[in-house]
Amino acid sequence: MTDQNVSTLEQVRAAIGACRRCELCETRTTIVFGVGDPHAEVMFVGEAPGRQEDLGAEPFIGAAGKYLNQLLSRAGLTREEIYIANVLKCRPPNNRDPLPAEIEACTPFLREQVRAVDPLVLVTLGRFATQFILKTDVGIGNLRGRVHLTGRFSVLPIYHPAAAIYDRAKVPVMERDFELLGALVVRRREEASARAARSGTPLGNEE
Ligand code: URA
Repeated sequence: MTDQNVSTLEQVRAAIGACRRCELCETRTTIVFGVGDPHAEVMFVGEAPGRQEDLGAEPFIGAAGKYLNQLLSRAGLTREEIYIANVLKCRPPNNRDPLPAEIEACTPFLREQVRAVDPLVLVTLGRFATQFILKTDVGIGNLRGRVHLTGRFSVLPIYHPAAAIYDRAKVPVMERDFELLGALVVRRREEASARAARSGTPLGNEE
């Protein structure tokens, strides 16, 4: 059944408008909303647009994005079948860390994006996405690689791809975590099919 209180992605984007809710509006080129399948089984949440994303208006199209695309294949996923958004929709100058006020101003839209996509699995890339989604101050090193259940979502925190570009020791860990993601998606898909079969609802026809 469709929840009448859930906005569509188009409505969330329209609500952002030509945003001036924080100072990043002064330095950004574009608002980087999100991209991908609006009904994706797997949604990725990154930190904030970098230089390429700020110019191209799409998340993860720079070096970290190219590496992410490679890792996706380890999980048996393609870029077309996932949805990707960031904690911040505008690039922080020189890719500095997001500030608390920026996170506060921007994340109501991320929350609505998550509700609109309603994925089986939410993958948080790096510290900022993980701590926001899991509402915790625990470091990413202690959270990654394990499935966390929060509300209706299975959340899998993984290091940010840029972290493994700078620290090659993280590469095997990243690869294992994406393989874990592949197994998790298969399991959640099977559970969703079983639930749909029990309720007599043909899959893909839930609304
Ligand atoms: N890093 C992120 O966290 N998001 C992007 O979109 C690009 C790089």
